[in-house]
Amino acid sequence: MGALDQNHGAGNFPGPEDRISGHASAASRPGRPSPSAASASPVFLVLGGAGFLGRHITTALLRRGCRVIVGSRHPERRRREAPPPDTSLPAAPPDAQRHRVLHLERMLDPADWRDPLADCDGVINCVGILRQRGRETYDRVHHRAPAAIAAACAARGLRLIHISALGLEHPVRSRFLRSKRDGEQALRASGADWHIVRPSLLDGDGGFGARWLRRVARWPLHPLPRGATGRIAALDAGDLGEAIATLALMPAAEAAQRREHDLGGDTARPLADLLAALRARTIATPARVLPLPDLFTRAIAHLCDLLHVTPFSFGHWELLRYDNRPQENRLPILLGRRPTPVGVDPVPRRRPHRATDIATHPCATAAAIDARSPLRACPDPSQPAPPILY
Ligand SMILES: NC(=O)c1ccc[n+]([C@@H]2O[C@H](COP(=O)([O-])OP(=O)(O)OC[C@H]3O[C@@H](n4cnc5c(N)ncnc54)[C@H](OP(=O)(O)O)[C@@H]3O)[C@@H](O)[C@H]2O)c1
Repeated sequence: MGALDQNHGAGNFPGPEDRISGHASAASRPGRPSPSAASASPVFLVLGGAGFLGRHITTALLRRGCRVIVGSRHPERRRREAPPPDTSLPAAPPDAQRHRVLHLERMLDPADWRDPLADCDGVINCVGILRQRGRETYDRVHHRAPAAIAAACAARGLRLIHISALGLEHPVRSRFLRSKRDGEQALRASGADWHIVRPSLLDGDGGFGARWLRRVARWPLHPLPRGATGRIAALDAGDLGEAIATLALMPAAEAAQRREHDLGGDTARPLADLLAALRARTIATPARVLPLPDLFTRAIAHLCDLLHVTPFSFGHWELLRYDNRPQENRLPILLGRRPTPVGVDPVPRRRPHRATDIATHPCATAAAIDARSPLRACPDPSQPAPPILY
């Protein structure tokens, strides 16, 4: 049985509407050095393209005139749920965005990807599962399927951008996190034109985790695990979509210089301060903090995993104990600007910023200090935002 038949049996058959009219099949143009060199309108398969991050990547690619095939398990449902078209986008051809049925847990052999990749110039994989269900195991979805995709991309000379997560280098025990680490390792060994993108926590409208965090931020009482001391460089999901589109379209020689990209927002804060900053966007009064013992938090995390409720998991509990911020932040470099701020630091009540906080920042010129102006416009994007003078 050929790969197409296998895919059909597995529910992954690309239908007749699933071909790009007027676009030469990638199969007829093998060995291309980079997607951008291939065609005026390159085609990207965005796996998980209907998810939170995937929608932002899709929008960013469409804005740049690319065509996108959204890989999803439920294209019909996703089409119904899709938000109204973005009117800020230039009028895109009607076939600029299409959907394709793809179940990663069923596609563990590189041959399974031959047909789904036949008309693509590049692949972006932002599929992820928080919890296992039936055959959708962490190992299949985060490790073995990405390994098969990478091998198929290597065979066709396609660039593969794989979204992973920060914090995997720590001695974590969660199977969720270890499967992500195995997936990264498979990519490195694949020989493909691979890129691993590791973002910190995402903020934005519509994400499962982001929605929960914003909701908790509005509560008058913030339950906070005592051990959640790691600093999180939360970033805007729209920024990440743009950065990934830039990476997808980067010329091959430039892209080959750097294959692993850790991305985060401007400010890294412990969970307590992140919640306070999200709250301060809409609510002036600070929340009270309820510290939770670590053992209790860990038990809650396991319970959430068991009952499949909330985005909180054992893996997240492990991540909260360590810094979740890039050592070297590639986001400003890929964006060509400073990242969009996430949250607003509340006005300090007791102690104003000391003069030394400001004087040690690279942008703290005497003139700026004298003017007592907010020093947000730091010309060096690699520097964290300096404190604001109140
Ligand atoms: N959100 C964050 O804060 C954050 C932070 C760091 C890293 N990440 C990583 O970024 C990636 C995207 O995260 P997200 O927040 O956008 O998640 P999301 O909204 O849950 O999107 C993930 C998508 O994966 C698809 N999917 C799940 N299982 C699949 C399967 N078996 N076969 C095919 N598709 C499947 C789903 O699409 P369908 O339902 O349409 O099939 C879903 O839309 C994940 O790898 C995540 O670990 C996220």
